[in-house]
Amino acid sequence: MRLTLKTLCASVIQSTLLYITPAAHASEVEVLHWWTSAGEAKAASVLRAGIEQRGHQWRDFAVGGQAGISAMNTLRIRAISGNPPLAAQIKGPEITEWARLGFLRNLNDIAEAEHWEDKIPAPLRDVMQYQGDYVAAPINIHRVNWLWINLRAFKDAGAAIPHDFESFFTAADKLQQAGYIPLALGGEPWQVATLFDTLALSVMGPEHYQQAFLDFDREALLSDGVTKSFSLLAKMRPYTDSDNLGRNWSDTTRLLIDNRAGMQVMGDWAKGEFLAANQQEGKNFTCVAVPGTEQAFSYNIDSFVFFKPNNAEERQSQTDMAEYLLTPQFQRDFNRYKGSLPIRLDIPLPNGDTCAEKSRQAFLYAEQHNTLSPSMSHGLSTTRYVQSAIFDVINEFFYNPKQTPEEATQALYRAILSAQA
Ligand code: GAL
Repeated sequence: MRLTLKTLCASVIQSTLLYITPAAHASEVEVLHWWTSAGEAKAASVLRAGIEQRGHQWRDFAVGGQAGISAMNTLRIRAISGNPPLAAQIKGPEITEWARLGFLRNLNDIAEAEHWEDKIPAPLRDVMQYQGDYVAAPINIHRVNWLWINLRAFKDAGAAIPHDFESFFTAADKLQQAGYIPLALGGEPWQVATLFDTLALSVMGPEHYQQAFLDFDREALLSDGVTKSFSLLAKMRPYTDSDNLGRNWSDTTRLLIDNRAGMQVMGDWAKGEFLAANQQEGKNFTCVAVPGTEQAFSYNIDSFVFFKPNNAEERQSQTDMAEYLLTPQFQRDFNRYKGSLPIRLDIPLPNGDTCAEKSRQAFLYAEQHNTLSPSMSHGLSTTRYVQSAIFDVINEFFYNPKQTPEEATQALYRAILSAQA
């Protein structure tokens, strides 16, 4: 048999099918997600419990790493081989890509029956829809532009909690002198990009940031604002540790928990790690907005899609899961562990959780003042193709001190242009 593309694909599909898993059994809900850290796993267990309480079998399909990039690569293989899971964590514009290819179940019947239009904040509905139909269920609101503070290190170093970048670098110097890693940064492209993303939001402001990283406007991308954001990123370099290459985000948060580092810029899934380690807000750690972003809200929304079911039982198990996701019980319990806000603004927040209170106030303010910003680094503003092109430029710059912020600005514009082509 001549090796042709056709036969090659057939053999790849054949081997992938054999390799991955047998077909899912009826009422067994196989859920693909990337929640593998301590706090994430605790939150995922709320989802599992709810599905089992509804008489279904949970099949965990956790693919950790790279904030979902590994999970999406695995999902593509499963989908191409005609064996996707019943449900998968997919976010942002990527939802539209899967819907356009015809993989996703229409959820309008559930959305109507469960009054999603009353429960999902208006600015967050469109991204869950394809051509006006619901194809994804949102479950939370993560704020990305947080600076996490290890209070013990700050006390020991005699440092003050920063409110602008001048006081940030003053604190960083004091932490360094006291023997702490001032800024814990994990050496993965998405983590460096998350730092850059929040610095750009601070330097450019929500409106200009969105012109650059949502609309990809040429002038905004080539503006001083982007160059200054790269300069600020460069200033962070000496405050990070050299052992960070490949270190995942939760091991990086661990550096604060273990009192070895003073600060971390990360979305509030980091709070889930502090809480899973029994750390107390206000005693061991606290949260402030990345300096200059107090009135901005860079959002990351986790959501589930459902692949077209093969039979009535699969369909029913999907319906039960989708309905469960916006119940008060799931919204309250999942988000308490996850560190995010409930997507439903009518759900009370845990007592004494000041970071959650701050986040909700910031969300309501940003919603009112139109400063809600879909996060570029977490896939809410663009597709993975454009995002990974941006990640490459940011990381090339961060690890190559010879490149100037001006050169990086030019490189970023060219990279986006070719990724969009
Ligand atoms: C994000 C995801 C969050 C959090 C984070 C780190 O992409 O939306 O829920 O889990 O990755 O894994």
